[in-house]
Amino acid sequence: MTATETAVRPKAEVQDLNFYYGDFKALKGISMPVHERKVTALIGPSGCGKSTLLRCFNRMHDLYPGNRYEGGIRLHPDDMNLLGKDVDPIEVRMRISMVFQKPNPFPKSIYENVAYGLRVRGERSKRLVDEKVEQALRGAAIWDEVKDRLDDLAFNLSGGQQQRLCIARALATDPEILLFDEPTSALDPIATANIEELIADLKHKVTILIVTHNMQQAARVSDYTAYMYLGELVEYGVTDEIFIKPKKKETEDYITGRFG
Ligand SMILES: Nc1ncnc2c1ncn2[C@@H]1O[C@H](COP(=O)(O)OP(=O)(O)OP(=O)(O)O)[C@@H](O)[C@H]1O
Ligand SMILES: [Mg+2]
Repeated sequence: MTATETAVRPKAEVQDLNFYYGDFKALKGISMPVHERKVTALIGPSGCGKSTLLRCFNRMHDLYPGNRYEGGIRLHPDDMNLLGKDVDPIEVRMRISMVFQKPNPFPKSIYENVAYGLRVRGERSKRLVDEKVEQALRGAAIWDEVKDRLDDLAFNLSGGQQQRLCIARALATDPEILLFDEPTSALDPIATANIEELIADLKHKVTILIVTHNMQQAARVSDYTAYMYLGELVEYGVTDEIFIKPKKKETEDYITGRFG
């Protein structure tokens, strides 16, 4: 990290975040920056809290009773606490959108899948929705494949195409942060390479957080890496440093496959 980079204000800052599923404390005192227009990878063994942390960013946990946050995630430049009680989770999900492990298009047309968030937002202008849908499909590198079949059901697309459609759906509301939870684990190597290329492209416009089990993928796509274990953040840093010269032995054991 250069001096100028450290001086730049991050897009978001996780501040002493605890998260509880009922009585179970799944995240313990997490603090880390999320740098703007960079890719941050969350890695760590199964059950360490990666998905739990990711879901805090778009208030997904609010959908279930008994879940509780402590601490904050500050979003800049607004300096708004995403976890604040006065913050509307639906608005948060437009500004911070999520792509899941398995492609999960809605049972609607290709067009309507992408238009969905705009409709939720109350956008009525057909011209504007058309424009945004095209822009999002182009952004997700799938426009050429679907432009002549926008009214087809999304389920008729291949798995890799469905995942790019879900990325287009996530992009349509011009989010500030994109969350990816193991976005390629259900895809073949070619579709995976396409999504990785897309992520490299998207980071010029949007800040990205990605959970991955694939160490090569983390090393290839991310600028920063956070290693988590049992709900704690063990080590955070520039990806090259984490992979080449981690500060903690636990991190080294995990990334070299000596863990467990
Ligand atoms: N809905 C839930 N209710 C109670 N506990 C949960 C719930 N979801 C997850 N947990 C627990 O919280 C901890 C963190 O889970 P999480 O899904 O965040 O892990 P993860 O790092 O994403 O794992 P994986 O790599 O397997 O996806 C685990 O101990 C898990 O059992
Ligand atoms: Mg997970």
